[in-house]
Amino acid sequence: MTTNPHQTFIRDTADTDVEAIHEPIAREKAEPRDGYEPISIWLVFLFLALAGWGGWYLGAFSGDWNAMVYDERAQAGAAPAAEAKASDMLTLGRRAYVRCQACHQPTGQGLPGTYPPLAGSPYATGPAERAAAIVLNGLQGPLVIDGETFDNIMPAHRDLMTDLEIAAVLTYVRQSWGNDAPAVAPEDVARVRAATAERGAAWTAGELDQFALPEPEPAE
Ligand code: HEC
Repeated sequence: MTTNPHQTFIRDTADTDVEAIHEPIAREKAEPRDGYEPISIWLVFLFLALAGWGGWYLGAFSGDWNAMVYDERAQAGAAPAAEAKASDMLTLGRRAYVRCQACHQPTGQGLPGTYPPLAGSPYATGPAERAAAIVLNGLQGPLVIDGETFDNIMPAHRDLMTDLEIAAVLTYVRQSWGNDAPAVAPEDVARVRAATAERGAAWTAGELDQFALPEPEPAE
């Protein structure tokens, strides 16, 4: 009968021997190999610091990812107050226009037969109260713009947008694509919002005449 030398070895080896056998292996580190050096610990710290700084930066300057928050360093007293305010309204308005552009298109031209144009529209450039009323409650039924009839429904934006957002978007609409009408103030929108608070339904074109009353300001 032949004995397997390996089995003999295992049978004759006590636990302490196993430890002794492994000690040198545990003690000796493998020879370093070219291309497998660990990276500097300082580099690890540097990346950690960068990631931490990035997190802080996003927390501090992301503006809650809200489209209505504009560049936090925009003015800081650089421009006269009135001038800074006007351009901020246009900036805010351009961003708030994402709510309108699916229908009225980024170019303000609308879609023939479906969505009326805002460029050159008397409703967009006429009395600010009327424009605000349209955005607040929406509009439905036949509507003639530039000889073309639209008969569709615009949804209300009363609960979707603040007075500031509506004022800004109307200011943008009234001063883009060749339109040249005065800015709309949040107070104008607030007034119309309060006066029409009871009304749930969208306007029809005829009803909007109440907002088309005398335009006091003669054009300069
Ligand atoms: C879901 C599509 C839709 C959205 C979103 C929408 N509109 Fe309209 N809008 C319409 C339709 C449709 C009409 C015409 C309603 C009718 O036929 O009576 C209209 C009419 C108008 C009018 C009067 C007609 C004209 O062309 O001047 C104005 C002003 C207007 N919208 C402004 C806005 C503004 C500002 C926004 C964004 C806050 C907006 N709309 C968002 C569909 C939309």
